Amino acid sequence: MGDFTMASVVPCPPPQSQSTMLTTLWLLLSFAVPLPGFYVSFSCPNEKQCQRALLSDNDVFLPCNSSGSQWYFFLQDGTSWSHTLSSASNIEIIPDSGVLIQSPLPSQTGFYHCQDKDGLQVVQYEIDFQDVSTLHITHKGLGQKPLRNESLSLGGKGIVFTRWEPWQDCNRCGGLGERKRLGYCYIEEPLQEPMPCWLYLGGRKVWSSRMRPEMQVDACHVPCTALTSDYVPFDNFEITEESGSVWLTCPLGSVYR
Ligand SMILES: *[C@@H]1O[C@H](CO)[C@@H](O)[C@H](O)[C@H]1NC(C)=O
Ligand SMILES: *[C@@H]1O[C@H](CO)[C@@H](O)[C@H](O)[C@H]1NC(C)=O
Repeated sequence: MGDFTMASVVPCPPPQSQSTMLTTLWLLLSFAVPLPGFYVSFSCPNEKQCQRALLSDNDVFLPCNSSGSQWYFFLQDGTSWSHTLSSASNIEIIPDSGVLIQSPLPSQTGFYHCQDKDGLQVVQYEIDFQDVSTLHITHKGLGQKPLRNESLSLGGKGIVFTRWEPWQDCNRCGGLGERKRLGYCYIEEPLQEPMPCWLYLGGRKVWSSRMRPEMQVDACHVPCTALTSDYVPFDNFEITEESGSVWLTCPLGSVYR
């Protein structure tokens, strides 16, 4: 308890609450039972090495189900990569299952390496936690434009661009809703695979207003079929125009879906 203000997901009233009593009951219940936050979990398709950009401040689970496995973290620390054996307070190793990172910080960008009990690599995640507080939000329907490609001012020929994820599900059916997609900052050098910006930079300190993650919002209208009503996510998001901040207002809400 006492940690509710820290949660990135806050409880919302039940869908059909009409009486204050119900609302009160819901509030009591939601404080009595810790709500499981939704966190994104992804596995590595090739089981060896995965590079991913994600958002800071949103919980993530990195699986490694080898029994007796050990984790090593190589985090970006100041100007170099450091080897951190003791985990930070927001990193929880769940034995034989994986590692849960709650509210990851941009400075926790780095390599998360899981070894089996014989010291062989099971999986290595290279995660770029892009600073959610710099999220550039645009509404497609209002004609707002996402960030443009820019060349990187490092003397090289790198291009900073946004790599977009697919559009997520519409947050409503049978009426006007909204859908969103996330985009991450990537840097591409000629003839090379693009890399997430801060994994590319390593310890180098480069500041550019172009280097930030993005979110695009668009209107959507989907019919309520038996199928869609099954998976239309029970979450909602709200954008504050002044601060540009985003709030997800349901227990199982997540910026990732
Ligand atoms: C571990 O995960 C892999 C891939 O998800 C799966 O194929 C394997 O059966 C799992 N092993 C155990 C012990 O759960
Ligand atoms: C921006 O750069 C990316 C990566 O090189 C490229 O795929 C994309 O087409 C570019 N966008 C524009 C508008 O030039």
